[in-house]
Amino acid sequence: PIIFKLPPDTAHSFAVKSLKYFPFAFNQKDIPEIPVEILNIKFKNPLGLAAGFDKDAEAVRGLTNIGFGFLELGTVTPKPQTGNPKPRIFRDKDSLSIINRMGFPSTGVQSFRKNLINTGNVNVPIGINMGKNKQTTGIENICKDYQQSMQEVADLADYFVINISSPNTPNLRDLQSYELLRELLEFLNVSRDKSIPLFVKIAPDLNDEEIEDIAEVIVNTACDGVVISNTTTSRPDTLDAEFSKEQGGLSGPFVKDKSTNMIAKFYKITNSNTPIIGVGGVSSGEDMLQKMRAGASLVQIYTSFIFHGPVIVKKILTEFLQIMEKNNIKSCQDIIGIDS
Ligand code: FNR
Repeated sequence: PIIFKLPPDTAHSFAVKSLKYFPFAFNQKDIPEIPVEILNIKFKNPLGLAAGFDKDAEAVRGLTNIGFGFLELGTVTPKPQTGNPKPRIFRDKDSLSIINRMGFPSTGVQSFRKNLINTGNVNVPIGINMGKNKQTTGIENICKDYQQSMQEVADLADYFVINISSPNTPNLRDLQSYELLRELLEFLNVSRDKSIPLFVKIAPDLNDEEIEDIAEVIVNTACDGVVISNTTTSRPDTLDAEFSKEQGGLSGPFVKDKSTNMIAKFYKITNSNTPIIGVGGVSSGEDMLQKMRAGASLVQIYTSFIFHGPVIVKKILTEFLQIMEKNNIKSCQDIIGIDS
């Protein structure tokens, strides 16, 4: 309640700094153990924090104490940049939605690296989500931006994510086209350490043809997985008019079905061979189950964490475990993709 009295941009910084300086204040006990393994990475549970909350890897200790099964840090850019002018985060309490146009504020990959090293040993897998600097143009330079960040933190990542779907960096989403994505992934393949899985994070606003193109490139370039999805640029009619007209990406309940449907399509097209991290509008065990039944091996949250706070992690996992027990489901593996 105190945090909600603050403007959203201030509230975000306050939450990150609290987790950074008082990590033990966020300890949650008795987090259900729901082990999952994908791409040779072991997870204590399949619920992670989505990218964009801890952009500079500052609050890792506090976030692990909350009970997340994994953390996706970033988006980090190679050089520091300030992002868009504030205000750039907007909350709508009635629909439990957020619109953001942050534009990748980042202290840069070197500072990100220092923060992560200073954290010491972390007991959950760490995904590092990377973006390009706003000023970087031309596909060759863009490729180098991603490569630079990747090389700088390769020893600290359990998996990497190429973010090509933020709506707040001009032309970034163009990288989702068949040709540009293929060029980017082929370029990265030359120098990357293939033992660290590489994911691509895509938008929920793609049509069937675009999804098919992306799936084809991912399979042909031996990219390891996909994160579905980022925020949407669309606005439902039912959204509050004032809130709705803010520019940026919408997250929360309205992205839920969009991303779940895309997960199902992608799972089908790739014959279940490409691991999917499902994200968008998850706030309950039932939501998590839906994402997994559509084909996600792991699930992430962001917006529900903002509205409900740290207790949401244990709540979702407890509900999910109850559903598993009630239906005699022995392991997550038994439900992944059964609806697709
Ligand atoms: C985001 N998201 C995001 N994603 C990403 O890949 N890099 C980023 O830097 C950010 N930044 C960011 C800031 C804010 C304020 C929000 C609300 C979201 C998108 C996020 O990771 C997720 O994909 C979507 O928000 C959908 O999930 P939820 O929020 O509906 O659970």
